Amino acid sequence: MKDTHVRFRVGVVGVGVIGAAVTESLLTGPQADAIDVALSPRSTELTAQLSERFETAHACASNQEVVDRSDVVIVAVRPEHVLEVCRPLAFREEQVVVSLAAGWPASTLAPLVTPAVSVCQLIPLPMIRLHSGPIVLQPRVEVVERLFRGCGRLVALEEESDVITLSCASASMSTFFALQARIVEWVTSQGVGIDSAKEYVQELFVGLAHEMTAIPADDLAGVVRAHETPGGLNEQVREALDAMGAFDVVARQLDLMRRERLQHT
Ligand SMILES: NC(=O)c1ccc[n+]([C@@H]2O[C@H](COP(=O)([O-])OP(=O)(O)OC[C@H]3O[C@@H](n4cnc5c(N)ncnc54)[C@H](OP(=O)(O)O)[C@@H]3O)[C@@H](O)[C@H]2O)c1
Repeated sequence: MKDTHVRFRVGVVGVGVIGAAVTESLLTGPQADAIDVALSPRSTELTAQLSERFETAHACASNQEVVDRSDVVIVAVRPEHVLEVCRPLAFREEQVVVSLAAGWPASTLAPLVTPAVSVCQLIPLPMIRLHSGPIVLQPRVEVVERLFRGCGRLVALEEESDVITLSCASASMSTFFALQARIVEWVTSQGVGIDSAKEYVQELFVGLAHEMTAIPADDLAGVVRAHETPGGLNEQVREALDAMGAFDVVARQLDLMRRERLQHT
């Protein structure tokens, strides 16, 4: 549903991969007609593409101009650049500052962006461009929730440490694609054309993802059983992976990553 009451003035400082994806999502999403985006300099190619494509995206001459033109400032530079980028900027008390940077939760960023009092961390993923995927928000800030409504599935968290846990879980993305690529490769090696192989595997995984949305959170083991006949093909593959510890490796890696990230906060 469109929010017709408010015009959102959004600034993006750091228009790289995710800054550009967020801008595209906002300006093609359900609130697009009510959003103006001020884009920081640097990353000139992406900024030029966005301001050419969207009338409401404006390339600014400085990061301070971005802040001055915005009510919601999205900080989307790499974690190691957040300090040098934010320290010289003059924020306003009523501004909302949104950190996209890993390792920069609201409590860490807040002292850098005073007098702005409303600070949060948002973790979108690249599929936000397609208005899809989870968008972690911590803490809940009402205007940010309204701004990103329809750009993906907002997951609002109470605890800062939970953001780290879910960020680690997102490290499964390339494994997901590697698994699909390996299956497509095997199918084509058996003589099926690449287009049919890709289409089949993609639709299989899309269908499974849809099924997942309908499964209660306390029945994930049940759904594994529901998708394998005792002694059947699915059971064979899953048990072989289980026996070699493949699923445990995933859990161990996520655990390791989370401990490392917590040590650096
Ligand atoms: N990629 C993801 O999927 C993802 C998801 C969630 C969160 N994040 C977080 O988002 C942040 C950005 O990640 P990314 O993958 O988008 O990195 P990226 O592609 O390297 O983008 C960072 C951008 O910041 C720009 N930049 C650097 N210094 C700047 C300055 N002083 N003023 C203005 N812009 C400056 C860079 O410009 P130049 O190209 O000119 O150097 C670059 O375009 C990271 O903190 C990351 O933790 C990323």
